[in-house]
Amino acid sequence: MSFRSHLEGLKDLNVIKKLVSKKLEASAVINELNDKPVLFEKIKESDFKVAANIFPTKDSIANYFGCKVNELIPTITKAIESPSKPEVVENAPCQEEEMEIDFDKIPILFHCENDGGNYISSGVVVSKDQEHGQNLDFHRCMQIAKNKLVVRIVKKRNFDEFLQKQKKMPIAICIGNGANVLVAAATSVEIGRNELEIANTLEPLKVTKAKTFDALIPAECEFVLEGTISLEELHDEGPFVDLTETVDVVRQEPVFTVTKITHRKDAIWQALLPGKLEHKILMGMPREPTMFKKVNEAGIKCIDVNVNPGGCSWLHARIKIDKKNEEDGKKAIQAGFEGHKSCKHIFVYDKDIDIYNDEDSEWAMATRFQADKDFVMKEKEKGSSLDPSAEPGTKMTTKCGFDCTAPLETKGKSFGKAVFPKAELKKYLE
Ligand SMILES: Cc1cc2nc3c(=O)[nH]c(=O)nc-3n(C[C@H](O)[C@H](O)[C@H](O)COP(=O)(O)O)c2cc1C
Repeated sequence: MSFRSHLEGLKDLNVIKKLVSKKLEASAVINELNDKPVLFEKIKESDFKVAANIFPTKDSIANYFGCKVNELIPTITKAIESPSKPEVVENAPCQEEEMEIDFDKIPILFHCENDGGNYISSGVVVSKDQEHGQNLDFHRCMQIAKNKLVVRIVKKRNFDEFLQKQKKMPIAICIGNGANVLVAAATSVEIGRNELEIANTLEPLKVTKAKTFDALIPAECEFVLEGTISLEELHDEGPFVDLTETVDVVRQEPVFTVTKITHRKDAIWQALLPGKLEHKILMGMPREPTMFKKVNEAGIKCIDVNVNPGGCSWLHARIKIDKKNEEDGKKAIQAGFEGHKSCKHIFVYDKDIDIYNDEDSEWAMATRFQADKDFVMKEKEKGSSLDPSAEPGTKMTTKCGFDCTAPLETKGKSFGKAVFPKAELKKYLE
């Protein structure tokens, strides 16, 4: 299924017919709608439509994959472990039309008052390296001219390694993708793994040859921007709101000069509000299978992992285990950090706790946690580049874990929640 066909099938899509500006107005509406999908039919500054909030929840992603929410971890795990080759097609929809290179004609949104410019925030970057093959990942891009974008690149990740080696290289930025491509692009797999093959296992994918360099791109995306990114040309990038909903610092980043823009007929621009639910779900969810796996590998039965939005879907994780030994909680904390290196605080719960319910999770901590016995501190480790409280520059941070599981042997009060009798209220309130 493509982004387009998924959008057409959405029963709860809010279609906005009123003329809306790409500057602050569209992002305000997207924010108000929060987790509800939206299609803007008329954008003041562009002839293209804009869609947003298409994959803001686990339900919306499970719905796309045709599975249940509790099947997402095994589904993503299987895709990472069993990648498969996508079908290569000619005459791809994403190359149906070619347009003049002028970003002012595309609805690249200006999201928040203090942003440094118009930003592409849902763009999936396709890059290639002679030794390692193709790579797929996300990079926010700020418009700095009609044909130039400055690209935020986190250091020491696969794309950065490609660029440091090649200095200047052709890339394609693909906008308007289905959840298979988006989730695959958000996984962190070892260098040399082509995420398009992970996407294809998630849900069959068609790919096609890029127009200006030898690489395969998702054939059914909405827009493709092709050109060259170069370490020889740097520009200020930012300010921009990041995953934590705080404003990121301005950095000097490489410039991407676009030489070709193709798109589908009546192309729909995919917007993504930075820091909000869709950004969070795409960042956090692909870390859940890796944490789940590490906990199980440590000999503890992991039931579920929730890299929850309250923890920016990055810095916090809740792990639910079937506790069999007193040390299982603490071991799960250590294993969890192995599965998500940027995580800062890990909370471990028993199987009776709903790790999607903030009150239930806090209740477990209130009733089952003792700091002197159940707290794990990992002083001064490399943390997330996104954490405003990490040491500026080095990003060193203190990580910790909270074992909120009950002891197996109880000496005083019990730890189970009381079961109250149930009543059918209708019978009493009629
Ligand atoms: C919607 C979305 C936007 C992202 N934007 C960027 C980006 O602009 N630059 C980048 O290098 N990585 C980006 N990433 C993902 C990175 O792969 C990475 O996880 C992130 O930079 C955090 O790194 P950390 O380990 O230092 O915390 C994005 C991922 C998603 C899902």
